[in-house]
Amino acid sequence: QELPDILRRMPKAELHIHIEGSLEPELIFAMARRNGIELPYPSVEALRAAYAFTDLQSFLDIYYAGAGVLITEEDFFDMAWSYLVRAREENVIHSEIFFDPQTHTARGVPFAAVINGLDRAVRRGREELGLSASLILCFLRHLSEADALATLEQALPFRDKFIGVGLDSGERGNPPEKFAAVFGRCRELGLHLVAHAGEEGPARYISDALDLLKAERIDHGVRCLEDPALVARLAAEGVALTVCPLSNVKLKVFPELCRHNIGELLARGIVATINSDDPAYFGGYLNENFTAIFEALPELGAGEAYRLARNSFEASFVPEETRKGWI
Ligand code: ADE
Ligand code: ZN
Repeated sequence: QELPDILRRMPKAELHIHIEGSLEPELIFAMARRNGIELPYPSVEALRAAYAFTDLQSFLDIYYAGAGVLITEEDFFDMAWSYLVRAREENVIHSEIFFDPQTHTARGVPFAAVINGLDRAVRRGREELGLSASLILCFLRHLSEADALATLEQALPFRDKFIGVGLDSGERGNPPEKFAAVFGRCRELGLHLVAHAGEEGPARYISDALDLLKAERIDHGVRCLEDPALVARLAAEGVALTVCPLSNVKLKVFPELCRHNIGELLARGIVATINSDDPAYFGGYLNENFTAIFEALPELGAGEAYRLARNSFEASFVPEETRKGWI
């Protein structure tokens, strides 16, 4: 078998996908039409042409604007269902899906509409696609910690519909310590904890996410290589990084895919995984991330493919008993 075929066919888990980042331009237009929303772009092609980013913030501006078409529970269901169908086609058998409730509640969309729509898709995915999926609620780090705490309060009646919390949005100037109290509260509640760190922000944000937020997994984390002591710690403690190669190039974290550091992360014993982040915006779902990075980096071969698939299951929040049957 050719390596790209192996990569596409192997069962894998996805641990870093923002569901709002799976909203394709076609769905944005369909939802705008049915919700009576006027878009500032004349066509799907014109919208797609605007997806030229210079950094994280330039992406976030257009990503939050795109999410503005999501109004009803049905919209959230349709968005998540179309991601799950696509993921199943790519042999994703488990997915831990981020959602950003504040992006919607700030526009007057009820929290219940967001989570009930997503939860219905997740449950249908388990039943009809055999795809194990769960939700992780992300706090927007450009907003205040008080806003995050209020969001957590809104979420508590739906505690059984999400397995953990994360931290996303603009990293620079919004360090982990800003959210220490809300993460502490989530920890008491028995929620799993993850955080974006070391994407645009410095290596220090990675160690602070571990020490101050007690994050169990780091999203991105690619800037850890700037601190050798941190690399040693991540490897020794088995802290997983959810790396997103196509995202990193689109947002200029690396100038080109062939300059990406995932080969080095693996070589140093870090539990790295491959993920799509915001596939509708970055030009590829999970398999495209795998095939593109393996094509760009000559040091990646069949051994790394197996390692990455294994890491994706081991780094997941699925109980070990269940995972055993997958690896
Ligand atoms: N929200 C969606 N994608 C993100 C990313 N790559 N970094 C931070 N926040 C995000
Ligand atoms: Zn992300």
